[in-house]
Amino acid sequence: MKVLVTGANGQLGHDLVKILSPEHEVIGFGRDQMDVCDLASVKHTMESVVPDVVVHAAAYTAVDRAETEIDEAFRVNAVGSRNVAVAAEEVKARVCYISTDYVFDGTLDGPYREYDQVGPTSVYGQSKLAGEVLTQTLCSRYFIVRTSWVFGAHGGNFVKTMLKLGQGRSSLQVVDDQTGCPTYTVDLARFIGDLISTEKYGVYHASNSEACTWFEFAKAIFEEAGQSVLVDPCTTQEFPRPAPRPRNSVLDHLAMRTNGFVKMPAWRDALQRFLAEYLSK
Ligand SMILES: NC(=O)c1ccc[n+]([C@@H]2O[C@H](COP(=O)([O-])OP(=O)(O)OC[C@H]3O[C@@H](n4cnc5c(N)ncnc54)[C@H](OP(=O)(O)O)[C@@H]3O)[C@@H](O)[C@H]2O)c1
Repeated sequence: MKVLVTGANGQLGHDLVKILSPEHEVIGFGRDQMDVCDLASVKHTMESVVPDVVVHAAAYTAVDRAETEIDEAFRVNAVGSRNVAVAAEEVKARVCYISTDYVFDGTLDGPYREYDQVGPTSVYGQSKLAGEVLTQTLCSRYFIVRTSWVFGAHGGNFVKTMLKLGQGRSSLQVVDDQTGCPTYTVDLARFIGDLISTEKYGVYHASNSEACTWFEFAKAIFEEAGQSVLVDPCTTQEFPRPAPRPRNSVLDHLAMRTNGFVKMPAWRDALQRFLAEYLSK
């Protein structure tokens, strides 16, 4: 199968190209080669590659900055996704759109299923939801894969931030009132590889198994990395950020179960594998 990956220089895009490559013919495009906001460029690229599937991982991901850069967030996440959808449809390619747990408002008691009510509270979440809607409207065959709390070897993420902070400090505070599911890019890319090889279209929640708070995640990072840093729990109120975050964004993997996909490993197992690779370099 010929697979075109957008956002190939990003955290997920990089691992998608690497992990899908042995099985498929994978062509990755970074922003410098194909700006998704440029419809003519996206159409031209799609017509010259003629992929079977497009994995659309490119996105505006600066969650806090999006609160003030509203137009730019929508330009990339809504208009850019519209462009990818239109161009893919013209060459009869299927689309796998990567989305986020931030499409939910976080007020549900318990894990979110794929067809639960969405209600993003941040500009980033709203712009990603717009991308979902445009993909669903314009593509005849699509997968929407919502993921959360992503970490991988390429690009910035919470795990790397903690490791860096831990080098200069003996203690730090981390919020303990937001719960979610960490996700390792390698495990996510493997699931996406399995998914796009099928005709099981629809919306999927894909994260590593089991949930935690950011505080619990931070503690685990230091334990697994062998860094002795005291982590103190704090509240979101004590650590305000420009963009609101869902209090609960735990993803239930209903669509994976009902479509016969193997659940992704537990996040702690994923963290151990990530650190083994990352710290060995
Ligand atoms: N990171 C998370 O915790 C998380 C959680 C839930 C969902 N997601 C979703 O997962 C996907 C992958 O995220 P990620 O963590 O890999 O993000 P990332 O590292 O920020 O990668 C996104 C990539 O998209 C590129 N991009 C931005 N604007 C573009 C444009 N106009 N044209 C082409 N490429 C453009 C960026 O290029 P530049 O570097 O040049 O800007 C970057 O390489 C995204 O859809 C994101 O919304 C991420």
